[in-house]
Amino acid sequence: MTQPQKGICAEPNLHAQYLLLNVVDDDTQAIREKLARTLALFDHYDEEHYEAMVTGVIAVGTQYWPELYPEAIPLHLYPFPDMQCEDRCAPATPCDLFIQIRADRQDICYALGLAIMDLFRLHVELVDDVHAFRYLDGRDLTGFLIAPNNPRGMKKQSMALIGDDDPEFCQGSFVHVQRFRHDLRRWSTLTDRQQEQVMGVTREHHTDSPESNPSAHFVRMSVTDADREPLPLINQSMPFGDMHSQGLMFVSFSSSASAFKTLLHSRIFGDDAGEYDRLLDFVSAETGAAFFAPSIHFIRNHAVLKPIKTQPELER
Ligand code: HEM
Repeated sequence: MTQPQKGICAEPNLHAQYLLLNVVDDDTQAIREKLARTLALFDHYDEEHYEAMVTGVIAVGTQYWPELYPEAIPLHLYPFPDMQCEDRCAPATPCDLFIQIRADRQDICYALGLAIMDLFRLHVELVDDVHAFRYLDGRDLTGFLIAPNNPRGMKKQSMALIGDDDPEFCQGSFVHVQRFRHDLRRWSTLTDRQQEQVMGVTREHHTDSPESNPSAHFVRMSVTDADREPLPLINQSMPFGDMHSQGLMFVSFSSSASAFKTLLHSRIFGDDAGEYDRLLDFVSAETGAAFFAPSIHFIRNHAVLKPIKTQPELER
């Protein structure tokens, strides 16, 4: 049976290790096999350290996908939507592979990361390596809860995963990753009330702030589809940082190829009156890449290349 990768809809963990890799050779057969072996590594670490709640996701860059799996390309596999308006920008920094490792133990994330790097050694270069962590009760470093409205159960799956109507890519997901850097010094010059106005939600109850305005992040992100339903997007972001710099690793999963782009447009270009997302005055995206995370079945099934039939065989 087709199964989604476990990390896509997993509940939040205490730690995450994000690896962004570029493939440096053209040995696509080896990469296909190693992606399948990465799934086996996720399972192995999950079984050995069941209390750590290990989950993982492998996603293939939208620009690398046609090279890796030319025989099966998802519809609407768009590159990251590079956008800029005045000083607000979402740079596109395409990347071949995204590997998300999450667990309740930092040492397990690290050990699994090392094992994966060892597996892909010689085939890849490490572009980015971010260790993120759960902060307080699931907050961003700005002090606000991250995605308290993420749905659960079947609703979560239907928002994050492609359904049966596309059998080849069923249980796959469109993934967008942005590494944000926060200007916390500037953020801290705002009063609590002003911060809530920028976010459009209160810190305590996560409800709409009575004073929310069109430029509040929550308001800019409340885009709905033709049926007035929220756009399908599951937010699995986690903060990272040390005493020098801080930020958020934004990671979203969607059943739709275009939901992220619509939301990003609403943030950067704003509405007809030019009301852009005020949060962008305090956080800036340093990277941005689009990926597709296929089902477990797809990765395993495409790991062994079917032998090419010879002419006499075809004529038989
Ligand atoms: C540094 C970057 C970001 C931070 C700190 C951030 C933080 C937040 C916060 C605090 C909320 C309100 C949650 C609540 O109390 O209901 C929220 C909502 C939301 N954000 Fe962001 N966000 C960031 C980037 C993004 C990006 C890049 C997108 C998509 C393009 C996005 C999409 C959404 C959506 C759809 C909601 C409303 C639904 C929900 O609550 O999950 N956010 N965000």
